[in-house]
Amino acid sequence: MRVGVVGLGHVGLPTAAVLAHIGHDVVAMDSDAGKLAGIVAGDMPFFEPGLQEMVGEGQRSGRLTFTADISDVPRDAQAVFICVGTPPRASGEANLLAVEEAAEAIATHATGDLVIVEKSTVPAGTAERLAQVVRRHRDEHRFWVVSNPEFLQEGRAIEDSLRPSRILIGANDEAATAVMSALYAPMIEAGARWIATDVVTAELAKHASNAFLSMKISFANAMARLCELAGGDVVDVADAMGADPRIGRDFLNAGLGYGGYCFPKDLDAFEMLAEKLGYDFGLLREVRKINDEAVEVTLRKIADVLWNLEGKKIALLGLAFKGGTDDTRLSPSLKLAERLLAEGARVVGSDPVANDAARKELPALETCADLYEALEDAHCVVIGTEWPEFADVDLARAARLMKFKIIVDGRNLLDPEAVSAAGFTYLPTGRPGRGLEGHR
Ligand code: UDX
Repeated sequence: MRVGVVGLGHVGLPTAAVLAHIGHDVVAMDSDAGKLAGIVAGDMPFFEPGLQEMVGEGQRSGRLTFTADISDVPRDAQAVFICVGTPPRASGEANLLAVEEAAEAIATHATGDLVIVEKSTVPAGTAERLAQVVRRHRDEHRFWVVSNPEFLQEGRAIEDSLRPSRILIGANDEAATAVMSALYAPMIEAGARWIATDVVTAELAKHASNAFLSMKISFANAMARLCELAGGDVVDVADAMGADPRIGRDFLNAGLGYGGYCFPKDLDAFEMLAEKLGYDFGLLREVRKINDEAVEVTLRKIADVLWNLEGKKIALLGLAFKGGTDDTRLSPSLKLAERLLAEGARVVGSDPVANDAARKELPALETCADLYEALEDAHCVVIGTEWPEFADVDLARAARLMKFKIIVDGRNLLDPEAVSAAGFTYLPTGRPGRGLEGHR
């Protein structure tokens, strides 16, 4: 099937590569000529395991082509995916201008009947708006707007797109659903769960999924606070809760909280949508409040153990919003770095792939490619994200390098026994600390 993809960000580019991989002829478009030239030359605009290889495979097969001209996209296509950004407005509402413009351009240049697929995360009701936009062009061709929300996680975008937990299609017309099921046939045959519903329900389900996962994380962080007050261990609490299949263990890890370009902005947009519709979704406000507290709690912990922060060197391992990505947008770790710098500390970060992006966002931050260099003469090391190299850190070497042997574990990544055996003072999140005697 001939398919178009508009917008080559964290969702659009993996989507285009995977659609080509499963056999479709894909024309992928982005208006950023520099980004496009990089992609064509094999230089991906962000770190994503397996993406470069799959884009290369698509190009070699001739099934994946790139263009900066939107009029190329709908030509002879049966479906066009809109994957453009939906940045937040100052109010927290999603800015849908790029989505509207994409739909308008697709309809203008369509050469036949077309399914327009809304893949960007958008508030419920957007597909109906898009249908109004394209209806103006209806005289010539028929258009169907369907919602096909993306659930991929950064850092595993290819894997998630190839083997999705579910394929959710919101369509108000059988013909459009049929095009989508033909498009995804290889994945459905491979066992992917197919869920077809109406457009508004699909839009709501996407927001509901992200809000629910954010809520799970905030629940774990609230439990971490309680565990610290009561003397419990939040990891064991999460294991005990998660053993119940009705709850599940995923997304119950307490720490610095959630960040990234999805959860925080989607939560705000969802709350705004509810408000507009006349429902006060106060639960979402509480989820955000607990998340905002997570960085402050960690900051207080560092200040408590180090006392005055001015002039103290703090090594920060992990700078992106989570491990496995170079995406620093709304990174809790960077938010912590910013707060530490404001308190007068010297912060030296190290991240396997996000150092450059982090310095761009926070120029006062120093970074080292080698994490052991960041540890040299540090008064304290903070674990900001999960990476295998942080979990496997050589504790004896770290102990020799650091000025004070203090670890603040913002992700509960390390084994308390091993850290303590190596002579460190250990401050995890929501778990009993070790070796605090000398610091209180
Ligand atoms: C998320 C959704 O998972 C995905 O389905 C959606 O399509 C886009 O948004 P992503 O933003 O890539 O994906 O990140 P995710 O892996 O979900 O993590 C989000 C944040 O939550 C990260 O900052 C992560 O560190 C944090 N997190 C996650 C926790 O703090 N605790 C957990 O237990 C899990």
